[in-house]
Amino acid sequence: MHAPAPKPAIPPAFFGETVTWVHHWTDRLFSFRCTRDPALRFVAGQFAMIGLMVNGKPLVRAYSMVSPPWDEELEFLSIKVQDGPLTSRLQHIQPGDTVLIGKKPTGTLLTENLLPGKTLWFLATGTGLAPFMSLIREPEVYEKYERVVLCHTVREVKELAYRDTISKDLPEHEFLGEMLRGKLIYYPSVTREPFPVQGRITTLIESGKVFADLGLPAISPERDRVMICGSEALNADVTAMLEARGFVEGNNSKPGTYVVEKAFVTK
Ligand code: A2P
Repeated sequence: MHAPAPKPAIPPAFFGETVTWVHHWTDRLFSFRCTRDPALRFVAGQFAMIGLMVNGKPLVRAYSMVSPPWDEELEFLSIKVQDGPLTSRLQHIQPGDTVLIGKKPTGTLLTENLLPGKTLWFLATGTGLAPFMSLIREPEVYEKYERVVLCHTVREVKELAYRDTISKDLPEHEFLGEMLRGKLIYYPSVTREPFPVQGRITTLIESGKVFADLGLPAISPERDRVMICGSEALNADVTAMLEARGFVEGNNSKPGTYVVEKAFVTK
């Protein structure tokens, strides 16, 4: 039996929450859930500083919430890096352990940072999926858009975290199912193994394959809105591609036709 570590003293900028569930997708990727203080408020798409007390000090990184704002617990998706200061430790957490949750979530992947549009595109690589897992369970998204397309690119099939949640559980969900059936389109792609859709999302957009596959017109700033979350390289490449098509970046002071955020934790 795992004996939870003694409860550490929690610095005032954080809530100390209890881990309730851990799931390892691969040797590089895991998810966990923890309790949520009722005072913690956030909007779908935001991130918070998350971590552990190490040698009496908080060791934290920015993590997007996977869980929607209406969930009474919090859920996160993390990479595991064997020599990463935080994730080498965080990957060993078990139910009963204490994690730090920053009290002030923030971020730019918010529907209010986008001008009104018809189709909302979520473009993610790797753990960049996290904020979109929250957004696809936010009813407001389906009130604002006719269609929501979630594109997730990973190296290997087993890294398609939440694949069953998105394609099987959500359409059957008691409250959300009816709202998102026919509106939420899931478009996973894999780059280093055979899979029905192979290749980077950037390539699939440039070639037009994604639009042909989904029966949609090529993205344009008149009709489409885009949220991007992935590596620096993904963000830079997609941003350049969108700017070339006339999209304008939005932020917390001025809405635009696309918004972007890094999938933060790389260690
Ligand atoms: P690839 O296998 O061709 O590098 P990672 O695990 O390194 O974070 O990558 C996650 C996924 O993101 C991989 O499928 C990877 O494709 C893809 N990727 C990496 N860089 C870019 C980029 N600049 N544009 C689009 N996709 C990218």
